[in-house]
Amino acid sequence: MRIERNAVAVITGGASGIGLGLAEAMAARGVRLVLSDIRDDALAPAADGLRAAGAEVVTVTADVCDPAAVDRLARVTLESYGRVDLVCNNAGLVSPGAPLWEQELRTWERMIAVKLLGVVHGVRAFAPLLVKQGTGHILNTASSGGLAPLPGRTPYTTTMHAVVGLTETLDAELKQAAEGLGATVLCPGLVDTPLGRNSAALGAIELPPGASMRSVAARAGGILTPREVAESAIAAVEAGRVHVAPGHGVLDRARARVDALLSDLEP
Ligand SMILES: NC(=O)c1ccc[n+]([C@@H]2O[C@H](COP(=O)([O-])OP(=O)(O)OC[C@H]3O[C@@H](n4cnc5c(N)ncnc54)[C@H](O)[C@@H]3O)[C@@H](O)[C@H]2O)c1
Repeated sequence: MRIERNAVAVITGGASGIGLGLAEAMAARGVRLVLSDIRDDALAPAADGLRAAGAEVVTVTADVCDPAAVDRLARVTLESYGRVDLVCNNAGLVSPGAPLWEQELRTWERMIAVKLLGVVHGVRAFAPLLVKQGTGHILNTASSGGLAPLPGRTPYTTTMHAVVGLTETLDAELKQAAEGLGATVLCPGLVDTPLGRNSAALGAIELPPGASMRSVAARAGGILTPREVAESAIAAVEAGRVHVAPGHGVLDRARARVDALLSDLEP
């Protein structure tokens, strides 16, 4: 799908990081925005920054775990702009680092609620609108942790693998409904965002003083900016690709997983 000037994009988790990078990249193309996040205090300054750069922005505070809140997001989008072209289900948290058997049940419940059901609620609220229009695209943010094992973060990786599978099937279903529809899953490697800090503020992890995703990423030897990730995602949507996985070493890890899978399946 070509992302044209005056198209309408909705972004959950839009107050920060990759969501805000998507908003900035879209605004630079003249796209009208609905920016949504659970953190009300972060939403207003993010929207102000986009408006200062000339963007048209409506904000909606919504928790993606709450289907009624996501339905309201869809209603506000239609009331504001009369249509929707790109739905970015991007809100997310990271889970604490521990082996699977030491992860608390409430971590599993929360990660499934935000990272998997949050996407499901977004698709249920918006896909019928896209089907009615006959055009539009859904961009789901997963992670490179959805393409290959990531020891120590099973609640995170499990939901990300689920979002990859969900999006592959969703793309096929949308294309059956109308030629002009589709879905893409974004699976980045490490990105320079306050994911750790925001996850701690939302009570999902405890962050030791001074720790950040950036220091982890710097040690790992490669980190992307949210804007770089957003530009890769938009290019993939425009090319009609189902997967996009920007980042250092991601392709190698995905290839190793697929090679191991095929080798196990060989008779
Ligand atoms: N940063 C990375 O290295 C990285 C890598 C791969 C994938 N991701 C994924 O990208 C997505 C965006 O993360 P980010 O790195 O930009 O972090 P971020 O913390 O900068 O942005 C995530 C946003 O989601 C919001 N959010 C959290 N729970 C929510 C909820 N229940 N309802 C609505 N909004 C909620 C947060 O308030 C925050 O503004 C996440 O799904 C994350 O798992 C991040």
